[in-house]
Amino acid sequence: MLILGIESSCDETAAAVVEDGRRVRSSVVAGQHEIHEEYGGVVPELASRAHAERITGVITRAIDEAGCGLGDLDAVAVGHRPGLIGALLVGVSAAKALAWSLGVPLVGVDHLRAHLWAGLLDTEVELGDVFPALGLVISGGHTAMFRCESPTQLVRLGGTIDDAVGEAYDKAAAILGLGHPGGPTIDRLAQEENANDRAVELPVSRLGRESLDFSFSGLKTALLYEVRGVPGPGGVFERTSDALNDERRRDLAASFQRVASKAVVLKMERALDAIGDTPRSILVGGGVSANSRIRRESLVLAEKHNLKLILPEMRFCVDNAAMIAGLGHYRLAMGEQDDLTLRASPSMSPATSGC
Ligand code: KG4
Ligand code: ZN
Repeated sequence: MLILGIESSCDETAAAVVEDGRRVRSSVVAGQHEIHEEYGGVVPELASRAHAERITGVITRAIDEAGCGLGDLDAVAVGHRPGLIGALLVGVSAAKALAWSLGVPLVGVDHLRAHLWAGLLDTEVELGDVFPALGLVISGGHTAMFRCESPTQLVRLGGTIDDAVGEAYDKAAAILGLGHPGGPTIDRLAQEENANDRAVELPVSRLGRESLDFSFSGLKTALLYEVRGVPGPGGVFERTSDALNDERRRDLAASFQRVASKAVVLKMERALDAIGDTPRSILVGGGVSANSRIRRESLVLAEKHNLKLILPEMRFCVDNAAMIAGLGHYRLAMGEQDDLTLRASPSMSPATSGC
């Protein structure tokens, strides 16, 4: 069964063709970093416009690269929540138009759940060996942990009370005078030879003794004060980030990365203790699952608990449409589908948000 996936929730316009939920026949991602870079973050209105300009070309390329035609598609899946509403509407409208004109089912897919499917793409691992799982979504917009009974049944265990971890990475990069998005750059600097990850002691947020929530704003502020000094009267800083030399920048990046990774892995460990020994695997997804240190430390944790670790291939960590098509296939196989009343929604589904 061939499914076309469409993703436009934030600043990536993406389309993919996936066979039977797993085999990725094509995955096209058109990023918009160059559009948002000068603003230091995603500008929603510019994102929607760029999606509208690119979506048709991206879908056409995905179909071509998959070596099929529109008539070969069995369904269209689309990420319809959560995300920027104007951005989501572009993908949802395109998906509705295609599904209606081709006369094939339309399936709406939750973006967070799809990130947890990403690690299953291009693998043959049996779902029975994966679920129940501890799921962790770490991205620019989200940081949350779930007990996953199945790919679509999630119980939220905790989430960030302030910044998402990717957002903290991006802000830390801005503090260090690096470009946007900063996660990959900090990760690269932190891996340089001679990088000292103990150059400064930054705080690891633990929150309450048993808390499964995350907090990254204190870490970000500690880094800011380290770089620019504690602000004096009127909030004026002692210095700018221009005072940093390359070695110091590298060491601060490494110190930040050590603590960010520790804060994430610590909560995964707590969650495993809290939910007992029922999970079969740890599923990690989202842009920050590309991080070298989090990947390495998650593996150590999984081995310690004798669990399978499912991490996405690098190209499926950040937003993509293959994960949307994959989870769309699963929903269809479960007998679930949507109709043309499918709505784009900026918020998470109640189960995912814990509301
Ligand atoms: O999943 P994603 O593409 O978008 C959201 O759904 O938010 O994640 C993007 C985020 C950005 O914050 C980016 O800096 C971060 O993922 N990121 C990384 C790495 N690669 C991407 N953060 C840390 N280390 C990386 N290697
Ligand atoms: Zn995402």
